[in-house]
Amino acid sequence: MAMLAVAAEERPEKGRAICEGDVVIVYERHDRMKAVTVTRNGELQNRFGVFPHNEWIGKKFGSQIVGKNGAGFVFLLAPTPELWTLALPHRTQILYIADISFVVSFLELRPGSIVLESGTGSGSLTHSLARAVAPTGHVHTFDFHEQRANAAREDFVRNGVSGVVTVKVRDIQGEGFPEELAGCVDGVFLDLPQPWLAIPSVVRSLRSDGLVCSFSPCIEQVQRTCEVLSKERFADIRTFEVLLRSYEVRHENLSTSFDCSEHSSEQKSSEVSTKPPPHKRQRANEADEKDKPEGGLDAGDTNGTSKTVGEESKKPQRQLKPVIARPYPETKGHTGYLTFARQATLM
Ligand SMILES: C[S@@+](CC[C@H](N)C(=O)[O-])C[C@H]1O[C@@H](n2cnc3c(N)ncnc32)[C@H](O)[C@@H]1O
Repeated sequence: MAMLAVAAEERPEKGRAICEGDVVIVYERHDRMKAVTVTRNGELQNRFGVFPHNEWIGKKFGSQIVGKNGAGFVFLLAPTPELWTLALPHRTQILYIADISFVVSFLELRPGSIVLESGTGSGSLTHSLARAVAPTGHVHTFDFHEQRANAAREDFVRNGVSGVVTVKVRDIQGEGFPEELAGCVDGVFLDLPQPWLAIPSVVRSLRSDGLVCSFSPCIEQVQRTCEVLSKERFADIRTFEVLLRSYEVRHENLSTSFDCSEHSSEQKSSEVSTKPPPHKRQRANEADEKDKPEGGLDAGDTNGTSKTVGEESKKPQRQLKPVIARPYPETKGHTGYLTFARQATLM
């Protein structure tokens, strides 16, 4: 039960050691991870070298491992729904953590909740739904694409969430959700091309006060869904767009031509020279770039805005590397709209 491990001794943060057969998230950097099943005599090869699995067995999750030639390293992380979303094989478009966390919160999911989902897709959301409702709840997820449903089922088994997830092949827009779950469902999540077709069946499935959420990339889909939700007398119909802005925090070169240890009046007129941040900077390997000067002005460079009034030539040039934070230039934008509504019981 890797992703749902709740017993203290099973929690990776308590230091569980990696065993043969475990799924490990091999972390190179925040946007480059790979899920690997540990096998005896297995090997991982990447641009940092060769990493024999035998050296992983017995190490704690979270360990840094240096490659065979000593040129690079990776981290071996315990799989979580959050990391799985970043490492999973994409068979469809998927939901990412910003939307997922919002969905789990706004559907008010908790241990014991019963949830319906369609379509399953690559199972990105399903893993987070499973963890939210475990150990006593259940996620029933449906996709009309048989191969996708089968591949998702294999992932759920491999990741130890299959005890709380059932995958079935079903056309939810055509047939609706199964009758046997009618009236006892706490939350429904739809990621379908025509979600409004599934709403009458959502009405039958949800308990009173239960919640539905529909994810759609286009506002026209949202409009049609809202019309049907309204017609079906859902309450509190609200649509959100979750936009995430990530920041990079790094050392940036600034140069001054005064000695910071001297706090005298003559420094009042000193100016710190900075090079304006480039509009676009290729983000290569974090590790490679981390402390690399950004080019432009450094300690010896006087061909810029650097200006010191007074003893310019006598003062030693001093390099400062303050920490700066700024948004990544290629922040991901719109992924879709999330429409929530609550099943109301009218008097
Ligand atoms: C975008 S994917 C869902 C991705 C998923 N939310 C995730 O995070 O991985 C949409 C899925 O809906 C399925 N689908 C489309 N129409 C369907 C229908 N009528 N009934 C069931 N599944 C359907 C597709 O096969 C596809 O796998």
